[in-house]
Amino acid sequence: NTIGIIPVAFNAGQPKKGVEKGPKQLLDGGLVPQLEKLGWKVDFDGKIHDFEEIRPQSDPDDGVAKNPRFVGRVAEEVNKRVVAELKKGNVALTLGGDHSIGLGTTTGTLEVFPEACVIWVDAHADINGVDDTESGNLHGCPLSWAVGVSRIVEGFQWIANVQQPRLKPSRLVYIGLRDVDDAEKRILKEHNIKAFSMYHVDKYGIGRVVEMALDHVNPDRNRPIHLSYDVDALDPSVVPATGTPVRGGLTFREGHYICEALYETGLVVAMDCVEVNPDLSTKKEDLDLTIRTGMSLIRAAFGESLL
Ligand code: ARG
Ligand code: MN
Ligand code: MN
Ligand code: MN
Repeated sequence: NTIGIIPVAFNAGQPKKGVEKGPKQLLDGGLVPQLEKLGWKVDFDGKIHDFEEIRPQSDPDDGVAKNPRFVGRVAEEVNKRVVAELKKGNVALTLGGDHSIGLGTTTGTLEVFPEACVIWVDAHADINGVDDTESGNLHGCPLSWAVGVSRIVEGFQWIANVQQPRLKPSRLVYIGLRDVDDAEKRILKEHNIKAFSMYHVDKYGIGRVVEMALDHVNPDRNRPIHLSYDVDALDPSVVPATGTPVRGGLTFREGHYICEALYETGLVVAMDCVEVNPDLSTKKEDLDLTIRTGMSLIRAAFGESLL
């Protein structure tokens, strides 16, 4: 069994510099040998791509949306890389970078595994339509295109051509939400998208929440799983170095439990780990804590167990 690593040094889906350094930090921390120690072969050529070669000459705002062409093109490129890894029979591990790349990763998984479901672990729903986003930051919008509820803007035309069923709203489930915009709440309601917020984590406990999430998107436990993990799902006390921290998040253990339980299904074919921003830590301890937590979430999703 082989993991294909796709490091995406990309930050144009949001305004804070530094998130493009996430992949290097995770790799320098020793992620590859750690995964090998768990028994995986790792397919990684050592290159971290910044996609400068596809940066558009000009990239005017579209309405409020910022850097639409660059974000769209990079998502397309990421889509191709995920497809290539999955077609080789590898598990695709994408390291971000901001979460706008989640459009490329999820559509890539669905292209190869049309029956797949998506488990989006995040403080945010990232499903703002391009005309609804308040911030204009496209890392808050990837799922609106994946599900097909957003206007296709310049840079995103590829989405219309991808040979795949769209991500069905019934195949998407969230865990960890606590900062959802009004327009997003409308989309979740209108399309009946299942979401387990921190309220549900408190009410039922993380064990029941993961079970209920799987019962919803994967009732027979036979569909491939795409796990898209935004590290800001965890509480800022555990993951301080991230661009849009929201208090009241998952504990260290709750965050890991999700990965451990999904690993146990044997169905995870792709994982994203995004929004690690090394520049947003003022103290070295904060940086180390964030990187170490990110690496250990990934290890948990690939079989590291406590016993
Ligand atoms: N909903 C907010 C927005 O649209 C925050 C999005 C944060 N997304 C993220 N991937 N961290 O700007
Ligand atoms: Mn988030
Ligand atoms: Mn908000
Ligand atoms: Mn996110």
